[in-house]
Amino acid sequence: MKEKSLTIAYRIYTIDELSTADAELIEAAREATYRSYAPYSRFSVGAAVRLADGTLLSGSNQENAAYPSGLCAERTTLFYANSRYPELPVMTLAIAARGTDGAFLAQPIPPCGACRQVMLEVQHRHQYPLRILLYGTAGIYEVSRVEDLLPFTFDESFL
Ligand code: THU
Repeated sequence: MKEKSLTIAYRIYTIDELSTADAELIEAAREATYRSYAPYSRFSVGAAVRLADGTLLSGSNQENAAYPSGLCAERTTLFYANSRYPELPVMTLAIAARGTDGAFLAQPIPPCGACRQVMLEVQHRHQYPLRILLYGTAGIYEVSRVEDLLPFTFDESFL
């Protein structure tokens, strides 16, 4: 038996420590939570992306009475970005969420596994590291590539 370990790297920022561009992206993700359609969970998630030419896009979770038909904010936003601007790499993705009490979460929102898998494909598709900012009122986590959220990745190289 051999035991191995993988290390992931992330940084924690306060809002004041962010660049102007990143603070703007976080604000767009926060604002997007107010456009969430979440009548079932009452959990409102917003995401915002910065594309390689500086374009900023945002989206939110969209639920459905047939629960699995809904979609998370991250995938709504990434699919929109890639369908609208297929040639532009997505450089940074920011995520924010408000809980059932309407307040922004204190701890950074961790994306679900399906969204992490889609982030990986976006990164591979554009051959560019996708940086991710997870917003919480207590701090903002930054990872500089999807593998730091999703080790042991499954990708097209296995097909
Ligand atoms: N949700 C997101 O939009 N992103 C996440 O990272 C986690 C969960 C949504 C899905 C559903 O509409 C609600 O939050 C509760 O799970």
